[in-house]
Amino acid sequence: MGMLDKKVAVVTGSAQGIGKAIAKKLAEAGATVVIVDRTIESSTEAAEEIKALGFAALPIQCDVANAGEIDVMIKKVQETYPTIDILVNNAGVTRDNLLMRMNEQDWDLVMNINLKGPFLLTKAIAPIMMRQRWGRIINVASVVGLMGNAGQANYASSKGGLIALTKSVAKEFASRNITCNAVAPGFIETPMTAKLPEKVKESYIAAIPLSRFGTSDDVANVILFLASDAAGYVTGQVIGIDGGMFMR
Ligand code: NAI
Repeated sequence: MGMLDKKVAVVTGSAQGIGKAIAKKLAEAGATVVIVDRTIESSTEAAEEIKALGFAALPIQCDVANAGEIDVMIKKVQETYPTIDILVNNAGVTRDNLLMRMNEQDWDLVMNINLKGPFLLTKAIAPIMMRQRWGRIINVASVVGLMGNAGQANYASSKGGLIALTKSVAKEFASRNITCNAVAPGFIETPMTAKLPEKVKESYIAAIPLSRFGTSDDVANVILFLASDAAGYVTGQVIGIDGGMFMR
């Protein structure tokens, strides 16, 4: 028996990176995972990888910033599966620049994907969870949503907003047995952090009590817990996954 047997989980931005690790982890625990990403090719590739391990995965193309595409995505899920139990809002982008050089387009793009996307998806999927009186919504924020970061005013604001959205959703839907929590990863080993010069990496690691960058699996493990019955009394929380870099 897996922790998530018979559950259906929508994971956005799961064609690669942390999202793919989350989708794999939930699938290993018994969930059927819906791989939502920008192109059908990338979603299909990730879904095939998960299926090759013997688990269930459904690839769908959907831009999380587009309400119309979200509706189509949900209809497609419901053609095959009766319900949606778990939503992981993981899709996110950066468009870094100092505030004085940041243009409006890069502000809007980051806000639309990182903050409006989770709002639209929650609004569209929560009614399904309400009917069954069980749901798990997990938002992938970031430590910079708590601390702020020079050069990331748009990204940090979107993640700070996502944390406030998490708490509001937790309060609105608690009576329907739907929990909503956020995770705030710190430095995670991804293609993005792999590009950092060694000296810069060392200086970041010096500020992390556990003295290493995190892995996608470190993030996925916490999300598995939050998605399970074991986390039934946890809602409106922000769980740092940052090796102790930021303690509140
Ligand atoms: P990534 O860039 O490797 O993957 C993001 C995925 O989201 C990609 O597959 C991309 O195609 C998809 N995506 C982007 N825009 C989309 C849209 N409009 N609709 C659907 N899918 C879309 O990023 P990574 O590193 O795996 O990050 C995942 C999440 O974790 C993001 O929300 C990021 O902000 C957050 N995070 C990452 C950290 C890191 O160190 N990598 C640290 C803290 C938070």
